[in-house]
Amino acid sequence: MVKILDRNFELSYPKELIAERVKNVAERLNQDYEGKNPVMVCILNGAFMFAADLVRYLTFQPEVVFAKVSSYEGMSSTGCVKELIGVNVDVRARDVIVVEDIVDTGVTMYNLLPQFFSKGAASVKVCTLLQKPECLTVPLKVDYCAMEIPNAFIVGYGLDYNGMGRNYGDIYTVTE
Ligand code: IMP
Repeated sequence: MVKILDRNFELSYPKELIAERVKNVAERLNQDYEGKNPVMVCILNGAFMFAADLVRYLTFQPEVVFAKVSSYEGMSSTGCVKELIGVNVDVRARDVIVVEDIVDTGVTMYNLLPQFFSKGAASVKVCTLLQKPECLTVPLKVDYCAMEIPNAFIVGYGLDYNGMGRNYGDIYTVTE
């Protein structure tokens, strides 16, 4: 059990399980992108730890870049996506893999992906650590997902509660 700000969280997904799932996703990417040089867009802030672990397992050579978007306040999505740092590489004719921490409503990814197509990307795929399938509100296709989880608020392994809790190696779920 950990306390972050005003909330208690209990351990749900230990680091050993996360590492195994991250490796599985990396193996799928290694098969699909063998010999290719995709642009991997790590979505800040939440995906920093996932992306850092994921890229170490890759056997192809990605170009790793970062973008920052924000749609959450506290424990719920605002439904409005702000792009705070954009992608500044030319994605024309490139394969793009967007690396996200969690797909919840899907609104963030759904709003972000068209820009890569309109800039001429050859392909655009979503690679997320986590997905809450029952929360999806838009017709988003998630191509790679390390773990599907139920609808509960979680922190750790890059994910935060009001900016805190990102540093935990394990993932915790809010208790109330
Ligand atoms: P979506 O647009 O509703 O899919 O929300 C995606 C973003 O919401 C993620 O990138 C996270 O930053 C945040 N988010 C969604 N669920 C959680 C959660 O349980 N804990 C922490 N952040 C979350």
